[in-house]
Amino acid sequence: MSRNAEIINYLKKRRSVPLPFLQNPGPSESELKEILEIATRVPDHGKLAPWRLIIYKGEKRIAIGKNLALIAKENNPDIDEDKLEVERNQFLPAPLTVAVVSSPIKHEKIPQSEQVLSAASVALNLVHGANALGFGTHWVTRWFSYDQSAKEMLGAKNGEEFVAFIHIGTPCKTLEDRVRPNLKDVVTYWQN
Ligand SMILES: Cc1cc2nc3c(=O)[nH]c(=O)nc-3n(C[C@H](O)[C@H](O)[C@H](O)COP(=O)(O)O)c2cc1C
Repeated sequence: MSRNAEIINYLKKRRSVPLPFLQNPGPSESELKEILEIATRVPDHGKLAPWRLIIYKGEKRIAIGKNLALIAKENNPDIDEDKLEVERNQFLPAPLTVAVVSSPIKHEKIPQSEQVLSAASVALNLVHGANALGFGTHWVTRWFSYDQSAKEMLGAKNGEEFVAFIHIGTPCKTLEDRVRPNLKDVVTYWQN
């Protein structure tokens, strides 16, 4: 592969677009297929494909919000109406959300941690794929990735973990970049 200025420029500038700024239109079915093909082309030790993807779109996002508010109320009966409203909007206004689920397989050579890392690679590739097609993305986990009732409601099976909910939509705001790590703080040359 030769030097590709467009890819370099994208990778140097990639940033998230927070959920409130992701609006219609979302990807069409054919665009989504392309994004999913890009997402699932990842490093995968042992070729186990130890992950799967769940798509949430349309009216389902409103139902999910209502369910999350009910679970939040069960967990905390004193929760106030403002916080319940936050839960009802957890999958809005983004038109589409894709969850990446780590679904590890018992294997004598490939540790489960490596299988989770492959799932995280799917999530990042999903971000790159959606961005490459012109959409904004926001990778979140929030409380509902870890709450048993919420996990089940959102489609996780026994032994599975959500590594990402990637909200996808059209950015409606230009955002400032955040401070990025300084290379000198995170990179060293090994000395023996
Ligand atoms: C595993 C993982 C979980 C995350 N969960 C959340 C989250 O629940 N809520 C949130 O606002 N950002 C979350 N983020 C951070 C955002 O995806 C994003 O990376 C962050 O806002 C920094 O912006 P950038 O992508 O532009 O560098 C998470 C990131 C990762 C890698």
